[in-house]
Amino acid sequence: MTTVRHLSPLDRLLDSTQNALITLLGSPRAQRLNPGLDTPEAALDTHERQHAAGLMRINHVGEVCAQALYIGQAAVARDPATRAHLLHAAQEETDHLAWCADRLHELGSRPSVFNPLWYAGSFAIGAAAGLRGDGWNLGFVVETERQVEAHLQEHLHSLPLTDARSRAILSVMKDDEVRHADNAMAAGARLLPRPVAMLMAGASHVMKTVAYRG
Ligand SMILES: [Fe+2]
Ligand SMILES: [Fe+2]
Repeated sequence: MTTVRHLSPLDRLLDSTQNALITLLGSPRAQRLNPGLDTPEAALDTHERQHAAGLMRINHVGEVCAQALYIGQAAVARDPATRAHLLHAAQEETDHLAWCADRLHELGSRPSVFNPLWYAGSFAIGAAAGLRGDGWNLGFVVETERQVEAHLQEHLHSLPLTDARSRAILSVMKDDEVRHADNAMAAGARLLPRPVAMLMAGASHVMKTVAYRG
């Protein structure tokens, strides 16, 4: 579990800036092994490879957004335990980010050119949710993770049948996202109003449409 520290606003700003730079410009390092590592590479045709890359680019963008949301929320969390909870989940999202980047590279593709925009928008949304209080903050985590879980399920169906390497990564990610939502629920999340959940789903639909292409 992440250590609970009392941080000044400047510490929080520096932490957030460091995360943004590593997420967007560096090579985020996973703490767990890539789940697809032991799975042999499939012989994908051009169309299958492009489709798998499009889906993994969406998942990579999703993880860029997850970093930004969690870090934005942690930057304004009031209770140190809530902040520690958010930062712990952010570490698992870093694993997801690194695994998706690895897989994109293996598929001969690259991350979305719009990642700085996705990061900035998600950080602002995370901070706005966090400023409403820790119950809302955790409620936002629950809604985000449930929506991500649903889209990972869709991708598991949509990936080329033979792409077991991508599938192995998405399966572990999905299990993690379910746990993130359950943990946030147990930590005292409030259920978000339906219009907010629908707005989040709309924004994620736009992100997915753009990220699939580039
Ligand atoms: Fe994730
Ligand atoms: Fe998550």
